[in-house]
Amino acid sequence: MSVLPIIIAPDPMLKKLCVPVDAVNDEIRTLMDDMLETMYAAPGVGLAAPQVSILKRVIVIDTSRREAEPEPMQMANPEIIEASEELATYDEGCLSFPDQYAEVERPARVRARYIDYDNQVQEIEAEGLLSTCIQHEIDHLDGKLFIDRISALKRNMIMRKMKKLKKSKAMA
Ligand code: NI
Repeated sequence: MSVLPIIIAPDPMLKKLCVPVDAVNDEIRTLMDDMLETMYAAPGVGLAAPQVSILKRVIVIDTSRREAEPEPMQMANPEIIEASEELATYDEGCLSFPDQYAEVERPARVRARYIDYDNQVQEIEAEGLLSTCIQHEIDHLDGKLFIDRISALKRNMIMRKMKKLKKSKAMA
């Protein structure tokens, strides 16, 4: 397994539409393993393939609490098949936006379908942080970022900070 470089916003890679995988084979399992290692190293609770420059519909998530046993989830071709009318707000962050957070409103509960690590179709009902995380990561596969779901004012503020961060990194 290896830790992959994470794309930092703004970057055109984060705006691309990802293609479904045909099956979860050894190649995709290796990608999932590397993505999990990258996510844990960051550390973060979710990571989508385009964040490591792979334009495939693959995400990994682990929302277990830090002191608890790890609960890694690997999902290929994930899709929301049901969403509650009730909404919930979370202070979201993203590994492509270091140190930036914003409150995002999304359906409180979702049912998702995906292909798991063993190439089996699975369905999961999620609420709380897991629900938010699944929706945030699926958004990435459609080139959509959490800042696209907040006010223009807050979005511009975050983008200014990100551009500054990239500039200072480029000069270092
Ligand atoms: Ni993200």
